[in-house]
Amino acid sequence: VEKPPFDLESLRTDIENLISENLNLGPSLIRLAWHEAGSYDCFKKDGAPNSASMRFKPECAYAGNKGLDVPRKALEPLKKKYPQISYADLWVLAAYVAIEYMGGPTIPFCWGRVDAKDGSVCGPDGRLPDGAQTQDHVRSVFTRLGFSDQETVALIGAHTCGECHIKYSGYEGPWTHDKNGFDNSFFTQLLEEDWVVNPKIEKLQMMDRATTKLMMLPSDMCLILDPKYRKYVEMYAKDNDRFNDDFARAFKKLTELGTKNLRNAPAVSS
Ligand code: HEM
Ligand code: CA
Repeated sequence: VEKPPFDLESLRTDIENLISENLNLGPSLIRLAWHEAGSYDCFKKDGAPNSASMRFKPECAYAGNKGLDVPRKALEPLKKKYPQISYADLWVLAAYVAIEYMGGPTIPFCWGRVDAKDGSVCGPDGRLPDGAQTQDHVRSVFTRLGFSDQETVALIGAHTCGECHIKYSGYEGPWTHDKNGFDNSFFTQLLEEDWVVNPKIEKLQMMDRATTKLMMLPSDMCLILDPKYRKYVEMYAKDNDRFNDDFARAFKKLTELGTKNLRNAPAVSS
């Protein structure tokens, strides 16, 4: 354990306050940390994951990152107040705090990520998953990132919170009835609802027949159509503790991809 050169406890409180003032920020902070890491290629070892490379062109302009300027801007005042933390560490810490704030697991935070200096290290466009595609595509993206089928299913369980925005992705709506809560409800909804095509949205997305308020992407639906994915959907739908544990481990791995010499921060005091 090594104390970081910034006041971690006070920074955590400031992040919680930021989220409490705007609950939509929580899920967008999780998506920011995920897309920052999701450019990695574990075979080529490039793509500058966990380096805040998304601040720069060309990465900030990739279609998959539309809307992520909002959480990036929201964190700027905290970067000014705590100049000793790297952007890369700040984005990951903010995602961990958001997950915990919404009722998800506590993830032990390690610090020491190094910020990219410019956009020359950005990975190519097209590395993030496309919601219009299904299991072959999802499996190839998450294999390239270094994740198993089980870890892939656990990670996509983050769609328990937040929602899609027409103006960012062309999709619309939340996956669950509590978009500010973090639990295994993405999996229970996926299995329990009757999913039908939403005729009001130009892109192909599904809605639940019962309320028509919820949505699933084609890439979400593939998790119950592919038997190798489906067995983990069924497991996590039955066992919220197991989901929390597995999500925490997989999200920590995601947010440490490509990093070196990270140090364990002191545990959160309760
Ligand atoms: C939102 C696609 C995996 C976390 C979204 C949106 C799309 C999408 C299209 C809507 C963006 C918008 O319109 O604002 C996908 C696909 C995935 C995937 C195709 C993989 C096959 C993940 C993973 C995580 C994640 C692994 C985190 C561990 C989120 C969150 C939101 C979101 C929290 C809500 C953002 C908000 O409310 O602003 N995703 N995603 N997603 N995604 Fe994913
Ligand atoms: Ca990156």
